[in-house]
Amino acid sequence: MKKFYLTTPLYYPNAPPHVGSAYTTIVCDVLARYKRMCGEDVAFFTGTDEHGEKLERAAAAAGVSPREFVAEKRKLFLGLWKKLGIDYTHFAYTDQPDHVISVQRILRRAQENEPGVIYKGQYQGRYCVNDERYISDGAEPANCDICGRPAELISEENYFFKLSAFQERLLAHYAQHPEFVRPDFRRNEVTSFVKSGLRDISVSRKRIKWGIPWPDDPEQVFYVWYDALTGYLTGLGYAQGENGSADFQKYWRNDASGEVVHMIGKDILRFHAIYWPAFLMAARMPLPKTVFAHGWIYYEQDKMSKSKGNVVYPEPIVEALNSFGAPGNDALRYYLLREAPFGQDMSFSYEGLIQRYNSDLANDLGNLANRTHTMVSQYYGGVLTQTEDYWETQEIRKGYFAELAHQTLNEFRERFELYDISRALESVWRFISRVNKYLSDEARPWIMWQAINSGTGQTGIVEQYKRFLPGILYTASEAVRFCSLLLHPIIPAGADRLWKQSGGEGKIEDQRLQDLRWGKLKSGTRLGQPEIIFPRLDKAATLAKLHELAEADLERDRPKEALKSVQTETGKTPEPRTPSPESRVPSPEKISIEDFAKVDMRVGEIVSAEPVAGAKKLTKLRVDIGTEVRQVVAGIAEYYSPEQLVGMKVVLVTNLQPRKLRGVESNGMIVAATVGAEERPVLVTFKEDVPNGARLK
Ligand code: MSP
Repeated sequence: MKKFYLTTPLYYPNAPPHVGSAYTTIVCDVLARYKRMCGEDVAFFTGTDEHGEKLERAAAAAGVSPREFVAEKRKLFLGLWKKLGIDYTHFAYTDQPDHVISVQRILRRAQENEPGVIYKGQYQGRYCVNDERYISDGAEPANCDICGRPAELISEENYFFKLSAFQERLLAHYAQHPEFVRPDFRRNEVTSFVKSGLRDISVSRKRIKWGIPWPDDPEQVFYVWYDALTGYLTGLGYAQGENGSADFQKYWRNDASGEVVHMIGKDILRFHAIYWPAFLMAARMPLPKTVFAHGWIYYEQDKMSKSKGNVVYPEPIVEALNSFGAPGNDALRYYLLREAPFGQDMSFSYEGLIQRYNSDLANDLGNLANRTHTMVSQYYGGVLTQTEDYWETQEIRKGYFAELAHQTLNEFRERFELYDISRALESVWRFISRVNKYLSDEARPWIMWQAINSGTGQTGIVEQYKRFLPGILYTASEAVRFCSLLLHPIIPAGADRLWKQSGGEGKIEDQRLQDLRWGKLKSGTRLGQPEIIFPRLDKAATLAKLHELAEADLERDRPKEALKSVQTETGKTPEPRTPSPESRVPSPEKISIEDFAKVDMRVGEIVSAEPVAGAKKLTKLRVDIGTEVRQVVAGIAEYYSPEQLVGMKVVLVTNLQPRKLRGVESNGMIVAATVGAEERPVLVTFKEDVPNGARLK
């Protein structure tokens, strides 16, 4: 059986997990369930990254030891995974005793196999005495980003990892194994970064106490990434025995018999795609097959942050939806995976969540299941009496739905294998829509039933309907069974209920996709009780509940002092942030459609982004608009980092006169919204995949 080791990052337990951190874990849970359904032997890891100065300081502020502090916070993560039904098999936290052995062991292996890879050198960086933390590896920036005070330029003797020695080996690896970094545009980013030259990195610190001791040098502890990344090995039992536990030997491999996949967010790609393979190469250990960097979840186009009070937590969402009888976990999972192409950023909104749930789960899937099972129950006492569907049109010949179902299955698997999850779901929904159309526009079995029972229909027709009806219901029922199996990884609770209702045999999680065939439902099968699994949500009531529960959660985050002062000023807590009608901009003078048509706006993909020398607000972009790649200069440098921009789909006004900004030619203009008093630009982008060059009309 092929082995598959899938990991989430090890989360910092300094704050409660929000929907962004839950995203990676949910995605992994989906993939793990999918791989199990493909018959693979899956180990699914998650963990917490508990060392470092941030946690040390947070513990001090809370008046407890770092060990007590992280142990408490860790529970928040474990509790959430339980609530979300995350079915992980392996867990590690970096404060667990055997992690010390793992980290010291991989270091020793590196020193043995790659002499000189670790050396003692002079480290220079800024250290903020006030906040007791390192703020940069070098002289710049000079001020602390937390307190704003000038930070001390310190120099200490630390251990270094000779990353520069791996530049060529890394580049060769990316070239020979293009699947190592995914999606492709992220690989390009990493490759250019490595090509631009790698510097050695410091992997220990003297001033920090909360960390893993450096072997034979009690003055130093390992500095974050060497420690954290090794957590992936600890989770499998790398510290056990001489060569790791049986699980370690079974799952840590990269060959035909098994593979390792790290799922991470785009912000930690460099550590995973550059540092980690170099650390492993030095220790002569197999590299992961793939590091997949997914996009970020933004709330109202903004990065979630506690201080801004715009953090979205998963618990209130699940709770609010559950309170209306809807499966909250399924709804959240489905929304997160269906809404944006996997790999791209996504903008989270409560309205979007309700809308997706209502249209896809309640309407398309829920209605198909509900009306089918209700008809079988009412017309035939819940029993399928015939497997042959005799209905025929030009399109719907015998075997039409069987063929479509198998096509859907193949497409679903192909797309899943490429991590193209939203499009895998699209395939299933295309099939569901086709069956819905069959029932509501073409066959219309309820009309047949009426005709059969009203006693007024012509005998010939009634006889024909009697022949058709059970087969049509069979088709619809079999479609529900078929889809429920495909949907098990994404909506496990709802899929399980659908599977049972539609006569699926055995436990859904024991089913294998390679055994899924159309027509396995037998004549005589008794279906389960028809029950509404995805009740429609009332938008206003659900939004009100979501906001009520989310506000209660945010209250927990709000700094107590700030809250007090707001309360004394106004007598009540602030309303959720919706723009007041007064703040809306008055509509400008009307223009004709011809005027509008003069503006040529195209979809473009940013292929490179770099600062403009001497202009701290400007970024130079190269944008692929299908027919050509344009150079554009945009005033977005303070709000978007080059890494964030590369790969983004934007809107470009292409027929403006070219002009020069700070001596750099700009040939077009990127469209952005202007937000807030500071006029922050928010780039216009797309939720769906659109080809470069598509015109906006
Ligand atoms: N501790 C490191 C990882 C070490 S792995 C060896 C870390 N932790 S983290 O808690 O800050 O982030 C964990 C993961 O959550 C990252 O993959 C990050 O991308 C992801 N997310 C945090 N906020 C996110 C969003 N708003 N949206 C999507 N994912 C985001 O980094």
